[in-house]
Amino acid sequence: MPAAQSRYLRRDKDVAALWPDNVERAVRGNNERKTKDMSDRLKAEREAAATRRNLLTQDAIERTGITEEMIGELVTRFYGRVREDALLGPVFAIVQNWDEHLAKLEDFWSSVVLMSGRYHGSPMRAHMPLSLVGDHFDRWLDLFEQTAREVCPPPAAALFIDKARRIADSFEMASASLAGRIAVPRHLLRP
Ligand code: HEM
Repeated sequence: MPAAQSRYLRRDKDVAALWPDNVERAVRGNNERKTKDMSDRLKAEREAAATRRNLLTQDAIERTGITEEMIGELVTRFYGRVREDALLGPVFAIVQNWDEHLAKLEDFWSSVVLMSGRYHGSPMRAHMPLSLVGDHFDRWLDLFEQTAREVCPPPAAALFIDKARRIADSFEMASASLAGRIAVPRHLLRP
């Protein structure tokens, strides 16, 4: 056996002698306790966050009168119109699975107006490759606002419309910047 290897073996034995089983067990037990404490704390924090979110959602439902059913109706009716629209329909031809898209958009609006935290996507990233211009945003907002006013009571419609205009602005300004243009915030221009 080479000298270097036997030296390592002797050192391992020395270490083992200094590190008896009871110390090994104590360290392992301590580490296991720490890991469990951490995962208990994480679990408790997650539960507290879920409770806080439920309270926020409940409060938003009471203040605005918006319900998940209303969001479902708004999303279904709005995208029904979008798909038939001469300007927007062709842009949405890239959507492969409409059931998934509608479910995603319900989660999105639920997160925006009811703070349910159900949507985890990246809408800005989804819109940048679409080369959207002012006419697209005008048409999208016309259809969305018309549908919101039909489906929702006035204060709820006003909230959806305000959020939609601001989000549309952020998409439009980012699209314009990418294309080397500057866009005026559309929510300031709409009646
Ligand atoms: C000019 C107006 C708009 C057009 C033409 C448009 C078009 C589209 C299209 C084609 C997709 C599917 C993208 C994909 O599957 O890769 C999409 C996704 C989406 N859109 Fe729009 N959109 C517009 C404005 C808006 C606005 C104003 C909002 C929000 C208020 C919005 C929210 C979303 C969301 C949340 C998604 C899903 C993104 C994801 O995959 O997580 N869109 N949109």
